[in-house]
Formats: sequence, structure tokens, C-alpha cells
Amino acid sequence: MNEYISLNKHLHNQDIFLRDQFALDILMGFSSPTKFISSKYFYDDLGSRFFNQIADSPEYYLTACEFEILRSYKQDIAKQLGPGEFNLIELGAGDGRKTKVLIEEFLRSGHKFEYLPIDISESAIFYLSEEFGTEHQDLSFFGIISEYEEGLRWIKENRDGRSFVCFLGSNIGNFDHVNSLAFLRSIWNTLKDGDLMLIGFDLKKDIDILLSAYNDIEGITKEFNLNLLTRINKELGGEFDLSKFDHFGTYNPKVGAMESYLISLSDQTVYIKELQKHFHFQEYEPIHLEYSYKYLQSDVETLAKSTGFKVIDNLYDSQKYFCDSLWQVIKH
Ligand code: AVI
Repeated sequence: MNEYISLNKHLHNQDIFLRDQFALDILMGFSSPTKFISSKYFYDDLGSRFFNQIADSPEYYLTACEFEILRSYKQDIAKQLGPGEFNLIELGAGDGRKTKVLIEEFLRSGHKFEYLPIDISESAIFYLSEEFGTEHQDLSFFGIISEYEEGLRWIKENRDGRSFVCFLGSNIGNFDHVNSLAFLRSIWNTLKDGDLMLIGFDLKKDIDILLSAYNDIEGITKEFNLNLLTRINKELGGEFDLSKFDHFGTYNPKVGAMESYLISLSDQTVYIKELQKHFHFQEYEPIHLEYSYKYLQSDVETLAKSTGFKVIDNLYDSQKYFCDSLWQVIKH
């Protein structure tokens, strides 16, 4: 079994703590004039499984495009890292399939590194530990179960040497502009001058392609969204009837993002036991769930520059749908 640490351990009873936070966030979101649920609640075990299915669906081009980039440029990325040991830090590895492309190349080319994936989900870290532990016994692995920023701080205090951060899959796209600036700057804070980061951006493109990626024919995205109501039912004693909500995914050109909503199909009142409160949903009332921002190349440059990074290289798939941008930390 590979090694790992859980930085959530210090909480007396993490499940109760998390449930209280979930309850509070639902109360806030459902009391707002435009109801919303934070997209961070998508990823319980079932939600993560739905997301993996979306990632494999033919419409969700992002996965295939990023695989193409990593397979085409893995040797160039390995060369950029040069000789000497480094920490390979991954934020939100999912099932680790994409990182595996890089890890296998790094091992093949004789790089010395420790793989440190950070994920809030215990099961995600256990899965990666199993996956890499059986296939790559020569890989040094140390999983960190925590929020990204806390995990990065832990690495700063407990590991020496340079770091290479992977933040793949357009996860940055789920942060709004202000939060993405703050988040990237907090990553910068924990890194050293010259450290590298590979970060995935989904580029602006034909809107029909975007619309079908977030409205797959099989309806997995709909299941993924409805799972939020299932979570409220299971964890907070909610009484949602899932058949009374539909999924709606649309592109908002003004903000440059795909947006996901659940739409109430009737005038209905739903009780949530944990909150001891009824919530009213009018017919056609939306609940906002998620932004998935799309970027121009100039947005990528601006984001790097304004958070203390220099763009070393921009790697594209053959259709130029997606960009993995290689950034370097600049500290003077
Ligand atoms: C995880 N994240 C980058 C996905 C995205 O594309 O925004 C989540 C997702 N939502 C609907 N489909 C996929």
C-alpha cells in the first residue's frame, strides 16, 4: 500500500462538520433570489462516477483533446523539467489516466520524482494509490487527502526541492474570474521561483460544439446534475422528486461560460428535514449549478501574468479546442 496523509483528520467528526457546511450552503443557495447550489457538491462518490462517464462520452471533446496533447508533447514536457529531482504535484487527479501518460514518460526517461496527488476525496486517493501501486512499484507515491491549498501548504512545509504542478482537465474553468485569480495566486505563494505548472484551459469555439458537450445525448450530464438533489435527499433529509426537475445547459457569451441549471417542472414545495424548512420552486424556476468558463488565448496570457507566472509554452490538440499551458513561477 502506498503512503498517504489525511489533513482532514484534526476535525473531530469530519462527516458532521461537512454535513453542517453542506446544510448551510444549501440554506444560503435556496434563500437567494436566484437559487443556486455550489458546484463543489457535485463530487461525492456517485457524482465522481457520473463525471468519469461524461469525460468518456463522445460529445465531451475535452478529454480526448487533452489526451492528444499529453501524448504528443510528453517528451517536450519531460525535457522542460531537465535533470534533478522534483515533486510531481497533482490537483484533482480524477482516475489518474491523463497523469499516467506523463508519469510513464518521466519514468521512461529516467526522471527522479515523487508523485503527490491532492484530493479532498479519500476514495480518489485510495483509488490512485491502488492503481499506481500495482502497476508502477518503482514510483514513489504520497497521496494527500485535503483541499488543494491546504495540501500545497503541507508540501511546502514537508518537501524540499522543485515542484511541477499539474492542474489538468479545465478544472480552473469552474472558478469565476476573481476566484481563479485568487486561487492561482495562492498556488504561486506555495511554490518557488522557477517551479513549473501545467494547466488546462478549454478554449472558446463553435457554440454548438460546447452545447452538445454539456448536453450529451445519453443524458449523463442530466444524471450528474440531478445527483445534487439526490445528495440533499440522502444527506439532509430532503424530499425532492427528481422527475420534477430537468437539466438545462446553455452558453452565456457575455461571461464566456457554459452554465448548468436544474429547472423546476412544476410549482412545488420541498421540505428539507435537516434545515426544518420548506422551499418553494415556481414552475420553470432555475437553480444555477455550475459555470464552465472558456478562454481566448489572450485570457490565458493575462491570467498567467497577473498571478506571477510566465508562459513557457502553449500546447494544443490538432483542432485547437484545448490548451495545456506550461507556466513558470517568477519571484524576484
Ligand atoms: C470538472 N469540470 C472541468 C467539468 C467541466 O467541464 O466544467 C465538469 C462538468 N460539468 C458538466 N460536464 C462536465
